[in-house]
Amino acid sequence: MKNKISILVVDDEAPQRITLSGHLKNIGYLVYEAESADKAINIINSNIIDIVLSDYQMPDKTGLELFKTIKKINPEIYFILFTAYGTVETAVEIMKEGAFDFITKPINLDELEIILKRIVERKTLISENEKLRNILDEKYNLPNLIAFSKKMQEIVNLAGRVAQSKATILIRGESGSGKEVLAKAIHFTSQRKDQPFIAVNCAALNENLLESEMFGHEKGAFTGADRQKLGRFELADKGTLFLDEVGDLPLQTQVKLLRVLQEGQFERVGGTQTIHTDVRIISATNKNIEELINEGKFREDLYYRLNVITIHIPPLRERKEDILPLIDYFLKKYIQETNRSKVEFSKEAIDLLLKYNYPGNVRELENIIHHSLVLSRGELITTEDLPSNVKQMQKEKVDFIDDENMSFTERVENFEKKLIFDALKEAGGNQSKAARKLGISERNLRYRLEKWGLKK
Ligand SMILES: Nc1ncnc2c1ncn2[C@@H]1O[C@H](COP(=O)(O)OP(=O)(O)OP(=O)(O)O)[C@@H](O)[C@H]1O
Ligand SMILES: [Mg+2]
Repeated sequence: MKNKISILVVDDEAPQRITLSGHLKNIGYLVYEAESADKAINIINSNIIDIVLSDYQMPDKTGLELFKTIKKINPEIYFILFTAYGTVETAVEIMKEGAFDFITKPINLDELEIILKRIVERKTLISENEKLRNILDEKYNLPNLIAFSKKMQEIVNLAGRVAQSKATILIRGESGSGKEVLAKAIHFTSQRKDQPFIAVNCAALNENLLESEMFGHEKGAFTGADRQKLGRFELADKGTLFLDEVGDLPLQTQVKLLRVLQEGQFERVGGTQTIHTDVRIISATNKNIEELINEGKFREDLYYRLNVITIHIPPLRERKEDILPLIDYFLKKYIQETNRSKVEFSKEAIDLLLKYNYPGNVRELENIIHHSLVLSRGELITTEDLPSNVKQMQKEKVDFIDDENMSFTERVENFEKKLIFDALKEAGGNQSKAARKLGISERNLRYRLEKWGLKK
């Protein structure tokens, strides 16, 4: 048994209280005693109490009053009332208030034990249910990972299947596409989830610092090493080590990493003691590793070791079904952070967000949501609150649709717009430059822009 069930016996009559407590202690409960309702409340406030057994008639309060106070302090406490023979009304009243049970005096210990057993069974059932719910949550709801699109669903399935093994995983994908979130999700669904998840950014440090960061160093290993330091490989023992931007790993460090992968052992920088480690390695990169191999910048043997399983996260623009669920998720997150009440995007704003192509992927979408929420006033986020690159996107896309069902004039006008916008884009927005390119006067260009209401 993990924890003893704790029972508080409340009775102003000492002999009765002491006999009952003694019996309950003997059969394995953790027992507290109080000779008044007020004392009982003090005990409840400073101890974890599962069950209260209380007399009805006490000098300072009735058992019913005590129960009402207890419910306010901790509604999960089970309350059992002792009633004198023939006071059925009291019993009925307290049961209506939600007490667990009552028992008539003189107390029959067998009867009491049956009631207590029912409570214990119920408590176990509740905690089993909670455990089960947590397991289900973890299984079907990878932590903080929105995966609505079919492509992401497939990734989550694959991740779930490989999570339990120790196979190395290489996660590829553009910047901001969610490589690190996925790595964490894999860790937290694996058996290693109670052990550390440690990340190293292979691009952030120079070769020497990176090596001591990964493998640790001994005191005096180099100038400035004034004490021994444990590396990430040691810290991640039994857990998961996430090698972020692994494509940027210096060649010298690649050799050392290869050895850890092959033999599960290494030495700290400046040390001779061989250290054994059991880590699951997940790495990530947005670089083209095959190209790095051809250029001699990445060891092919290391690549095969890191890459037992490859997961490729597609850019957000190739899985637009994820946009809406992500908007919803980030909106909730930032509404909570900024203490705002209900806020929504207008329909037009949503349309724009769905059209945009997100070169910065999910990270960019997250920033956009945060940005617009901060700018917005009131309950509606409008297109005005969106960053300018998202707003512009709209005009380019919508204005240049060519469709055979449109009138001749409309199609010509659209083509005109396209020519002018392309010229403006190329000229970096400089109107006289664009006019020159098109071979028309600046005035002519401005006239057209004004006609379409697109001066800027
Ligand atoms: N599927 C997703 N569900 C929820 N949030 C996501 C998802 N994908 C990405 N994010 C969020 O987007 C941001 C960027 O994700 P992450 O850091 O994992 O990207 P990355 O691929 O590692 O980017 P980089 O290559 O720039 O390091 C994070 O704030 C992350 O929480
Ligand atoms: Mg990252």
